[in-house]
Amino acid sequence: MSASHYDNSSQISAKLIGKNIMLGITGGIAAYKSADLTRRLQEAGADVRIVMTAAATEFVTPLTFHALSGHPVFIDNDDHDETAAMQHIELARWADAIIVAPASANTIAKLAHARADNLLTTTCLASEAIKCFAPAMNKVMWQDPGTQSNCRTLTDKGWLQLGPASGLQACGETGAGRMLEVCDIQKALEQCFESGELQGLNLVITAGPTYEAIDPVRFIGNRSSGRMGYAIAQAAQEAGANITLISGPSQLTPPASLRFISIESAAEMKQAVFDHLSDCNIYISAAAVADYRVAQVAEQKIKKSADSLTLSLVKNEDILSQVAALTEKDPQRPYVVGFAAETEDIIENAREKLQRKNLDMIVANDVSADKNPAAGTPAIGFDSEYNTLHVLTAGENSGKNSNGKLFATARKTQLARQLISFIAEQYKQRRLNEKNTA
Ligand code: PMT
Repeated sequence: MSASHYDNSSQISAKLIGKNIMLGITGGIAAYKSADLTRRLQEAGADVRIVMTAAATEFVTPLTFHALSGHPVFIDNDDHDETAAMQHIELARWADAIIVAPASANTIAKLAHARADNLLTTTCLASEAIKCFAPAMNKVMWQDPGTQSNCRTLTDKGWLQLGPASGLQACGETGAGRMLEVCDIQKALEQCFESGELQGLNLVITAGPTYEAIDPVRFIGNRSSGRMGYAIAQAAQEAGANITLISGPSQLTPPASLRFISIESAAEMKQAVFDHLSDCNIYISAAAVADYRVAQVAEQKIKKSADSLTLSLVKNEDILSQVAALTEKDPQRPYVVGFAAETEDIIENAREKLQRKNLDMIVANDVSADKNPAAGTPAIGFDSEYNTLHVLTAGENSGKNSNGKLFATARKTQLARQLISFIAEQYKQRRLNEKNTA
């Protein structure tokens, strides 16, 4: 897909707020426009990191981009102290989107052929982020069949081509090859985060821990930060859905423009969920709901006079099972997605929960390795930026020998987008099947 016409309006959009954008700059006179692009992306709320090829630094100094982005600039395989901490894999994982602008004929050729001979091409190859490139070159270079073929290869690999535009070129010629205007690149980037896959659907999403009171000052809780659930809410909103996010105590700021309900205990979460289920199309239970609560909450702070203290716990109602149980009674039952936090036999335990709780989908994550990740891999699971997901559906991928669908280790924000896309696909398939059998 090639994007050449975008609304030039300078209207402030929320779509880039909090997004990690890696801007790759290659050697070309249009590199000066990337300074404006950096500033605009920053103003739109994105966190921008710059990677320059050696040739790019001949056109604009790294200092300019350091000043504009507020971060040190990465220059090829630079091992300068300031930047050594973030290697290409880290940068590749960090990015929600990579935009190479300007993209020279040389770098386009390298990217098309999976070359990895500098920091920019290596990072691109290692990243599963959204990727865009804005070609900028002399019109004859642009028209060259090799360049055209390389661009097709890149777009076939999933890169979004932005431009080029036509007009007067720096070399004095007129024709196609000018880098797309910065406002058009920004608009295209914003549209990358708006899939529309859940347009108009109503989603109820739970996130975070629940706190079960022991006395007025103490509680039983867990290490859920809310990150996974909030990322899902954000991704679903970007996919066009109307979101009700029901969250236990969390330090995070909820995404803007959604219905946010703050609760503390499992009982409050259950009440909030059932209060908002009437027109819900998809229910996603990412919260780590306490399985037990204290039988008798003390009215006053418990004194530490005794040498030991025994708390009697009673089981909380299983909110997820109760939503899924609406199936027999209520034709309006939502599509139900549960999570499974497992420390062993991840797939088997998740499959058992999928079936026992009568879910449409279960998303399993390994929460055993989160404290002590293997060398070179990020911590995953509770209270981490990263996760690894195994997804089983009630359909064909939940059979005894199936390992389900794996979403490899990535930032929760990226996994949330992949998961929302998969949920949208499965939801539509389910509705189609229901229609055909009606
Ligand atoms: O918040 P983060 O720090 O980002 O961490 C994310 C996470 C690890 C909390 C998340 O990815 C996750 O796995 N959430 C579910 C944790 C959990 O409670 O798993 P479980 O296997 O105990 O419960 C299974 C399912 O039943 C879950 O969907 C849970 O929301 C639901 N449940 C559980 C108990 C209960 N009383 N009511 C429920 O609805």
